[in-house]
Amino acid sequence: MFVSFEGCEGVGKSTQLRLLKEYLEKTGQRAVYVREPGSTEISEQIRRVILDTANTAMTDMTEALLYAASRAQLVREVIKPALERGELIICDRYIDSSVAYQGYGREMGAELIKRINAPAVDGCMPDLTVFIDLSPEHSWRTYRTEDRLEQESNEFFEKVYKGFINEIGTSDGRIVPIKPDFDKNVTSAKIISVMRERGIIK
Ligand code: TYD
Repeated sequence: MFVSFEGCEGVGKSTQLRLLKEYLEKTGQRAVYVREPGSTEISEQIRRVILDTANTAMTDMTEALLYAASRAQLVREVIKPALERGELIICDRYIDSSVAYQGYGREMGAELIKRINAPAVDGCMPDLTVFIDLSPEHSWRTYRTEDRLEQESNEFFEKVYKGFINEIGTSDGRIVPIKPDFDKNVTSAKIISVMRERGIIK
């Protein structure tokens, strides 16, 4: 089984991934944890190029193709082999981030981004995508500007959020929005319960 996690910046995605990992370890359930862009030698090199604040000249198309390239490597080197071994894969961001950030945020269009990513993912789509549903105006984003994407405007992140929301409707139930609670453990329990209902974890 393959599960991806999505959300805007500062919505507590990392915390939720950590809590899920703790739950799975406590209950003796194994999983392979990866993040995008990254998690292979080559994908991490691509990540550095994408997020480097010095790369102000990067065009939107270059950015979209680099995310797809990083993904193509991760799918072939890690995700597919793990799925073939019957392992559970948990991925911090995946194709929906490209659709939301490049498709809606950069206004390249969701359809174009899906077309670019089709050969990259090669049919390897998540069984479940957990979307931490918090709008940028309510997020705990602390306006870090450490990487190139974080330097974007509020308007950009609003478009990204609307993109995610649009895509939920067309995903046939694959993308499940989870509204974060003030108590991170309550949010975690919601996520675990969705994953259990779908038979992904025990
Ligand atoms: P990261 O520091 O991993 O962000 P986060 O902790 O919020 O997940 O940086 C990844 C950045 O890249 C993040 O701003 C989202 C963006 N992104 C895209 O624009 N397109 C993509 O396809 C992916 C995977 C990420």
